[in-house]
Amino acid sequence: MISFRSLRLSLRFVIPLAVALTVLAYALVPLVDKLTLRWFIRDLDSRSRLIATTLDEPLIQLLEQKNRGKINSMLLRVIKDERLHAVGYCDSDGKLLYNTSTFPKAITCPPARSGEKESSSIHNFSKLTVHVATHQIEQGSIKSGYLILVHDMSFITLRSADTRKYVIILFAVLGIVISIITVFVAHLSWRGWLEGVRAMLRGEGILRPFNQQTTSPELQPLLGDMRALLRTIDAERRFADDATITWSPESLRKLLHSHLAGERIIVVSNREPYIHVKKHKLIDINRPASGLVTAVEPVMRACSGTWIAHGSGSADRETADRNGRVPVPPKNPEYTLRRIWLTKEEEKGYYYGFANEGLWPLCHIAHVRPIFRTNDWQYYHAINQRFADAVIKEADNDDPVVLVQDYHFALLPGMIRQSLPKATIITFWHIPWPNQESFGICPWREEILRGLLGSTILGFHTPFHCKNFLETIDRYMETRIEHESSTISHGGQLTMVENYPISIQWPPPWQSTSIPILQNRTEILASMGLPKNHMLGLGVDRMDYTKGILERFMAVERMLEIHPELVGRFSFVQIAAPSRSDLEEYQGFQARVHAMAERINIRFTSNGHQAIILKAAHHEPDEINRYYRAADVCMVTSLHDGMNLVAKEFVAARDDEQGVLVLSQFTGAAHELHEALIVNPYHVEQTADALYSALTMPDNEQKERMSSMRAMVRDFNVYRWAGRMLLDAARVRQREKLTARIGRNL
Ligand code: G6P
Repeated sequence: MISFRSLRLSLRFVIPLAVALTVLAYALVPLVDKLTLRWFIRDLDSRSRLIATTLDEPLIQLLEQKNRGKINSMLLRVIKDERLHAVGYCDSDGKLLYNTSTFPKAITCPPARSGEKESSSIHNFSKLTVHVATHQIEQGSIKSGYLILVHDMSFITLRSADTRKYVIILFAVLGIVISIITVFVAHLSWRGWLEGVRAMLRGEGILRPFNQQTTSPELQPLLGDMRALLRTIDAERRFADDATITWSPESLRKLLHSHLAGERIIVVSNREPYIHVKKHKLIDINRPASGLVTAVEPVMRACSGTWIAHGSGSADRETADRNGRVPVPPKNPEYTLRRIWLTKEEEKGYYYGFANEGLWPLCHIAHVRPIFRTNDWQYYHAINQRFADAVIKEADNDDPVVLVQDYHFALLPGMIRQSLPKATIITFWHIPWPNQESFGICPWREEILRGLLGSTILGFHTPFHCKNFLETIDRYMETRIEHESSTISHGGQLTMVENYPISIQWPPPWQSTSIPILQNRTEILASMGLPKNHMLGLGVDRMDYTKGILERFMAVERMLEIHPELVGRFSFVQIAAPSRSDLEEYQGFQARVHAMAERINIRFTSNGHQAIILKAAHHEPDEINRYYRAADVCMVTSLHDGMNLVAKEFVAARDDEQGVLVLSQFTGAAHELHEALIVNPYHVEQTADALYSALTMPDNEQKERMSSMRAMVRDFNVYRWAGRMLLDAARVRQREKLTARIGRNL
């Protein structure tokens, strides 16, 4: 369809064309007139010659007979031809002997002995224009005379008027045909040009495979400039945002209102933030041990909206309405938790199987072999679809902002995109992304990558994980990657891959209610039967083989071997929340942890004070906070970890600026908390040394290190994490709207 706008634009071309053609037509008419007149004169010349030749013989006979009557009637017969106006005969002395009555007086005979055989001329009389042809007649005794043929030329004037009319009509038709063709071609190329500009604004131009280039060749030179400009604007804006915004719940809320028109956000994760469990006929509310929940919950409280998650608690159904909805936090509701119900088989296939026996070991370098079962994959696919349907149901417009969390939902972005093409989908992958070769062993790698490319933004903790992802895409998918802007173009859809280091809320939730640090320390030590001056190490983890708990125990053991003076004066408390215990791998790991703790305790228990105090049970966050505030050292020795928020929680809990963090170099946190004692957990001696250094570190050095790490966690808190993603999403949305507007106005 040709739109009104393109019609209007086309008229700008058609009107000048019509004017130009009209001027041309009028300039051409006299030329055409002259040309046709010449043709007609030539035509009349030969016509006259023909008539003269035809009359030659009979006329000579009649002249010889001097038969005036017959001569006159012959001449009268000749002028019956409508174009022949008059005929006359002049003798050789230049005297008009015979003529029709119509013969104009003004026409004279050729002078005597002119010698000319034939001639022609045009004469204009008041109402008449005539062609006069003179032909010499000569034969026998007849002295040569002249036959004068006078043709009326008014038919020429008539024909010339006709010709002029036809020329103008011809030009008009030509004009219309040219206009139609031009408008049509212009419309097509205009559309192509527009599409090109739009694609460029979307950043697609050079992102396409070379054989699918959408940008027209004439736009190519513009492409680089335009993209560079957009990148500069983006970078400047980001820089300005980072420099000017102090990230807090309020600034996040404001951002949502100013940049995303107050959108309610939809979060999707497997783990729910509040689990209702039956306990002795009562209902308890548990906060799960999950870094994901720790980070996303304060964001949800700030933004409000709906959090869709698996309802896994034994009292979840009875505490939710018939749609699975429950307002949370329970004491002071700020958003809606929408629970999705799974059968035991579904949970086994999707969660335990594909997510935790397949993707979890696949993404972590912890030397546990991933297991991929077709049956698990089918459940994974089906449950992703169930969550996608729930998102679509919860969305109250066609372009919602959806935050998809973690490896349980790799297919979800693509599924949502299919039903809500305009949705802004921010996917955050909370765990590491492996190198492309490791990822390649997944039998459904293309499906997973395609699903993730449904995202508008795909976030990882570190630039290294982004790089791994881009290389994986490069290896296994037909896409175009622009490394400079970290963007992937796939099937007309752009995905921005960016690193957003996750964090925790600041100020920490317990800041105002925590008891004084010394009192807290004394109480915690007393709760474990330990004296006031006892040194305390701490580990807080889920019971998971990626966390390096065994390596940590080995380091404690080694340190006590090297420093026997600390035996009975130092204990290491390991809080280990039960996790994924239906899986054999986890059961085995749990048994190994218990066994090692027992073995070390047999070696190094003194005065009834164990070297390792293993608390393999769920602890609520406020309780964990009390341990953080009591410890001299916190050990995070993950073998591989996306970020590890325990490290940041420990730092946040220490408002006394004391305590030392021993941190694995294989965590995302090690890229940010440089003042921690960074260790390779596989290196037992080195970790043992670090533990000892931590326990013997002077107070002022502890203070220096801790205050610097606290400033880092304060400024780079979880509101900044969410805010940066939302700002980037807002920019993408704005850019899309701008593209649409430019498209409308161009
Ligand atoms: C990791 C994952 C989270 C998960 C958490 C707890 O941090 O990235 O998605 O929630 O572990 O694991 P669980 O299986 O108990 O949810």
